[in-house]
Amino acid sequence: MRHALAVGVWKDRLTFLESLSAAATVSLKMKDLTFPFETAIAPTPIALVSVQNLIERIGMSVCAQNVMWKEETGSYIGETTIRMLSELKCKYAIVGHSERRLVFNETDEVVGRKARDCINAGIKPIVCIGDSANDREQSRTWQVMDRQLRALFQAEFRPGPSDFSLAYEPVWAISTWRTAEPLPEGSVINDYHREIRNLIAKLRGSELAETLSILYGGSVNPSNGSRYMRQENVDGVLIGGASKEPASLIQTFLACKQGLEERNTRVTAENAE
Ligand code: PGA
Repeated sequence: MRHALAVGVWKDRLTFLESLSAAATVSLKMKDLTFPFETAIAPTPIALVSVQNLIERIGMSVCAQNVMWKEETGSYIGETTIRMLSELKCKYAIVGHSERRLVFNETDEVVGRKARDCINAGIKPIVCIGDSANDREQSRTWQVMDRQLRALFQAEFRPGPSDFSLAYEPVWAISTWRTAEPLPEGSVINDYHREIRNLIAKLRGSELAETLSILYGGSVNPSNGSRYMRQENVDGVLIGGASKEPASLIQTFLACKQGLEERNTRVTAENAE
C-alpha cells in the first residue's frame, strides 16, 4: 500500500491573519473526522509556524510551499532554508511547482537540487512535474517529464519511496494557467501516472516505481476529488484554489476519501475473485 496524502496549498491567496483564521476553522472542523490518507496544509511562509501549531495537534501535517537548496556558503536574503524547516520539523516541502518554474524561472537542475537536499535533510519533498499546453500540442509531454525526472535522479542518488513523493500537475489544468481544455478524466490521469511509473522504473527500477506515491494536482475540488482518488495509480492530491475556504477544503478531502474507499472496495473484490 503506497502512502496516501492530500495537501491544501494556500499559495499567496491567504494573508497571515487569514491563514490563522482558516487554520483555526480547519482544525476545529477536522478534529472529529477521519481519513484513510494523511492530510496537510501548505500555508504562506510567514504563517507556517502559526498554522503548524494549530493543525499538528489534530494530526494534520504542515508543508512548505517552497524551499531553497542547501546553502554551502554565501548569503541569500529572503529565502527559506532547509536548516530553518528542519528546526521546525516541517515534514513536507513542495519543490518545482509550475509557478516556481514558470514565474521564477526555476530550472530542472535547481528543482532536482532542492529535492535532493531536502531528502538528505530528512524533509520529504513533493516534487512537481508536468507538461504545459504547448508541450502537449508539440507532442513532447514525455520528453519534458523524462527530463524533469532525470534532473532529480542524478548520478547515484537513490531515494526510497518514503523519502519523497511526486506530484503530476499538468500545467494547463492548474487554475492559474487553465486553458479552455476540459479537466482530464480520472482514467486519463491514471494512465499518465502509470507512464510516469514506467519512466521511474527505467531510471531507478520497478520497486521504487511501484511503491512511490504520485499525487495529482490541477483544479481538484469537491466535485472531482473522488474521480482522481479512485484511480489505482493516484495516491493523493494537491488542492490549490479549492483549499482557500475551509469548507471547500474539507469537502474536497471528503470527496477524496469517498474515491479512495471506492478503490479499496474494488481492489478487495478483485482480490477475492
Ligand atoms: P489548483 O492548484 O487546484 O488551483 O489548480 C493546484 C496547484 O497549483 O498545485
